[in-house]
Amino acid sequence: MKILSIVGARPQFIKEAVVGEQLRKYGAHEILVHTGQHYDVNMSDVFFRYLELKKPDYNLSVGSGTHAYQTGMSMIRIEEVAIKEKPDIIVVYGDTNATVAGALVGAKLKIPVAHVEAGLRQEPKDMPEEINRVVTDHISRFLFCPTKRAVDNLKLEGISKGVYFVGDVMYDLFLKVRDNIDAQKVLEKHRLQRKSYILATVHRDFNTDNEERLRNILTALGEISHKIPVVFPIHPRTKKIINRKNLWNLLGKTRAIDPVPYHELVALLTNSLRVITDSGGVQKEAYFANVPAIVLMPDTGWIELIKHGWNVLVDSDKDLIAEKALNHVPPSSIPKELYGDGKAGGKIAKILVGEDR
Ligand code: UD1
Ligand code: UDP
Repeated sequence: MKILSIVGARPQFIKEAVVGEQLRKYGAHEILVHTGQHYDVNMSDVFFRYLELKKPDYNLSVGSGTHAYQTGMSMIRIEEVAIKEKPDIIVVYGDTNATVAGALVGAKLKIPVAHVEAGLRQEPKDMPEEINRVVTDHISRFLFCPTKRAVDNLKLEGISKGVYFVGDVMYDLFLKVRDNIDAQKVLEKHRLQRKSYILATVHRDFNTDNEERLRNILTALGEISHKIPVVFPIHPRTKKIINRKNLWNLLGKTRAIDPVPYHELVALLTNSLRVITDSGGVQKEAYFANVPAIVLMPDTGWIELIKHGWNVLVDSDKDLIAEKALNHVPPSSIPKELYGDGKAGGKIAKILVGEDR
């Protein structure tokens, strides 16, 4: 079984770390393609190094650009590889431009596409990730859902064939890494004390590219930082916009640091008091780590965490962000099995190699 796996952005390296390992375990021949959408050392190389990913067989060096540029160049270059390699299946992850590019190439070459993290839906419907998810789900042959709600979302759109509830591969990785990190070392490096700081991440285009929303969020972080330390590993997109608009002064005493490798993020997250984020991955990892997340979005694909009261949606409301970040207390317990049993990667690999269809 020859499988062409497509990655390009940070969250995909994390998902590939789980699925790639299991594909090899189940005897698949995996060809790994990196579109090059993320290319800074701390957005790409550190994940390959620390998560022991296979070296990409192809790096397509697409880089940054508009959506059409990024998706189009990825498609052209993935198609060349797919024609040459003739895989049995193309695997795509999540909701980025690399995802939809890989899925479109597979569908048009009539190579079955497997979508890992299928079935998520959220408002606003015009956000790039939502467009990428909907298109990818509708042209995939295997749809691997991280939650039961995702299965239901697909059913509502008439998709039920090839749908598998397997759980979330990010949960598999979180469990593996959590027990193998020197958290104390990470806390000392960043001069932080256990459970007495807030972790923040911001990168969604609807937050960074809208100046009013960005100002609200940065001002809230600034206000919070005068009451409790805030550590802010800053995405390059956000950093560039803060530089361009000269907004650093809004951040008060917030400690903006470079993006960190995954094991450091897990250490920072697990030991934080609360998290403020618009990251899909971080919202969920916060729950895995037993830390509530204050979510800078009007809606989320991980809505179950909001419904159970663990995470809270604050959009870009400056006062609400500060109020919830300083005071939100989640219920003492919520269901534990929302994201599967930590064995999603193995289930996906077994299905793909044909052992469990
Ligand atoms: C992309 C994904 C988003 C995902 C996020 C994870 C799409 C449409 N969006 O958003 O779903 O949540 O990755 O982090 O695919 N940049 C650098 N160095 C890098 C990468 C990016 O400087 O290594 C800068 C560039 O100025 C670039 C900007 O960040 O234009 C945005 O990068 P891009 O990959 O286009 O989108 P993300 O916001 O990272
Ligand atoms: N992450 C990391 N270092 C950081 C910020 C995030 O390792 O400095 C990890 C984190 O585990 C997260 C994943 O990268 O789940 C993807 O995060 P990102 O916010 O970039 O993308 P999203 O999940 O929103 O698509």
